[in-house]
Amino acid sequence: MFATNPEDTMKISQRALAIAPSPTIAMSSRAKAMRAQGQDVISFDVGEPDFPTPENICRAACDAIAAGHTKYTPAAGLPKLKEAIVQATARDVGLQYDPAQVVVSNGGKHALMNIWESIVDPGDEVIVFAPYWVSYPAQIELCGGRAVVIPTRGEDDFQPDLDQVRTALSDRTIALLINSPSNPAGAIFTEATMRGLAEIAVEGDLLIISDEIYKHILFDGRKHLSTAQLGEEVKSRTILADGVAKTYAMTGWRIGWLIAPKEIAKRAGDIQSQETSNPNTPAQYAAIEALLGPQDSVATMRAEFERRRDYLVPALCEMAGIKCNKPGGAFYVFPDISAHVGRTLNGTPIPTDLALAEYLLEKALISAVPGSAFGSDGYIRFSFATSMELLQEGMRRLREALS
Ligand SMILES: Cc1ncc(COP(=O)(O)O)c(C=O)c1O
Repeated sequence: MFATNPEDTMKISQRALAIAPSPTIAMSSRAKAMRAQGQDVISFDVGEPDFPTPENICRAACDAIAAGHTKYTPAAGLPKLKEAIVQATARDVGLQYDPAQVVVSNGGKHALMNIWESIVDPGDEVIVFAPYWVSYPAQIELCGGRAVVIPTRGEDDFQPDLDQVRTALSDRTIALLINSPSNPAGAIFTEATMRGLAEIAVEGDLLIISDEIYKHILFDGRKHLSTAQLGEEVKSRTILADGVAKTYAMTGWRIGWLIAPKEIAKRAGDIQSQETSNPNTPAQYAAIEALLGPQDSVATMRAEFERRRDYLVPALCEMAGIKCNKPGGAFYVFPDISAHVGRTLNGTPIPTDLALAEYLLEKALISAVPGSAFGSDGYIRFSFATSMELLQEGMRRLREALS
């Protein structure tokens, strides 16, 4: 018998203590636990397409295993996959890169972590726009850096105020982070915003980290725009982060990549070679097929997401106390529910957006993620990576719960 519980005195690093688990994963774990107990919870919290990975891609992985491609590859990825990434980037957005600028990682999240580890020193600052994807500040802080958060609002279509960006710069600012289309708002930065941010980056000798993981999920005939497309000078200071997870319904395969100036790509590859080595080998073969094989499944999924958005936005806007922007891409809506914060709903006080999300989970059996998790209080994120039937039933429950 121990006099004390060894877990009470066990050494935990300050770095680990400072990190909170991802709130989106926490919410979906709670919903899953309730479902496991037999409760009919509808999940609007998930960040993954509800479609299966297309058949040709699955077959490519099986063929790779059958052909014996089950060993290590170069740490920064298979040369053939790097070529495929370069080719697909040229085909899809007209940008030319050298395969030496590519590092293939275990998902887009890992690619981003490799970027921060390659460029952030303790005390360095990165400009991040809220609402932001939950992992950005956490990853930057893990590297000793600081996310300087600039809020954006639904009324402004989530476009940042460029003067506010200029004011937030300090002599420790090293980079601006752009995520367009964004998670959680599905917001797309306009060309004027992109040009303004590019100008600020050039003037301040800053890097731009452009997370383009949703670049193929665009609505109303939009074309993707990245700062890398605004001329050589901006391209040379833009680092792209991307992956197959969202475009090809391949979240579980864990393949993502960065495309960076050669010196940064080399450092990121060296870091990866010490931390994880190469990403899963059969999954790399599957990613080659995803990028260079038939692309019709991408268009089919995109069209279905658009159909769901076109149902969901008016359904939300019709509800009292909800203001909802029409997302230009990705598969999330991010309505402003601040009118309900401070109310008492069916006897439950709702002091915060988190309380509203908990009330909806417990009383209406719908799970969604509160805006505060993304740095924007008074909003809530619903993912529409779920069937139309469940969306309709979920909206019926929401209407009832808020009335
Ligand atoms: C904005 C954004 N970037 C990056 C990722 C990482 O994707 P993955 O690591 O699954 O490739 C996600 C996933 O939710 C995301 O929403």
